[in-house]
Amino acid sequence: MATEEKTVPRHVAIIMDGNGRWAKKRFLPRNAGHAQGSRVAEQICEDAYNLGIEYLTIYAFSTENWARPKEEVDALMKLLRKYMKDSIARSSKNNMRVRVIGDISALDDDLRESIRTLERVSSVNTGLQFQVAINYGGRDEIMRAAKAFALDCAEGRKKPDELDEAVFYSYFDTAGIPYPDLLIRTSGEMRTSNFLPWQLAYTEFYFTDVLWPDFNKKELQKAIDYYSTRDRRFGGVK
Ligand code: FPP
Repeated sequence: MATEEKTVPRHVAIIMDGNGRWAKKRFLPRNAGHAQGSRVAEQICEDAYNLGIEYLTIYAFSTENWARPKEEVDALMKLLRKYMKDSIARSSKNNMRVRVIGDISALDDDLRESIRTLERVSSVNTGLQFQVAINYGGRDEIMRAAKAFALDCAEGRKKPDELDEAVFYSYFDTAGIPYPDLLIRTSGEMRTSNFLPWQLAYTEFYFTDVLWPDFNKKELQKAIDYYSTRDRRFGGVK
């Protein structure tokens, strides 16, 4: 008997693009787009979990975003600061585990401290596993992993021959987290912008013209519906 079965992706990654254009359309400053974007990110965590998604990873600030005007970088850092602080209490309430991926050594001390506290406090939570990429660049992550492995070899803890995909992945910021099944990018751009290049090797891509601040549960459901039509062969035949 044929039953219509929807496959929900276990891990969804999102490039939240279009905040600036959303604000411009409303004659608002770009930062108003980011503020709305961060509210949407919070809501999407709830929606994703209710739809059965286990892991969600979002691109909040890339290694390239430092090149934006100082005022915009400051506003994004302020939003992230508030998000991390507020999430310390909120994560226990909704049983969400939050981890930050990226090179956080470049962030201000107080933000790093909030991140550490949030990661520690939420580490026992078994609901949505939520990753926020901050000062994240995929090439940077691969190089940091390569350096850490090289150092382990130089100091005798590892041998070059031991390197395989699983060993190498254990050096990544996302170690222990399954690779994304579905990548969503909003606002019509069709590129991955240095987001999770290693992890996305067999991921299905969904692009939508919807600007991130307009994204919602209905749009997420559309992306899942698209995903459930895909025939994933991982390089083999079925
Ligand atoms: C891309 O829009 C968006 C970003 C570079 C930042 C994403 C950050 C947030 C949504 C807020 C912070 C998140 C949290 C979880 C607190 P864009 O500015 O490139 O838009 P444009 O292409 O229309 O100019």
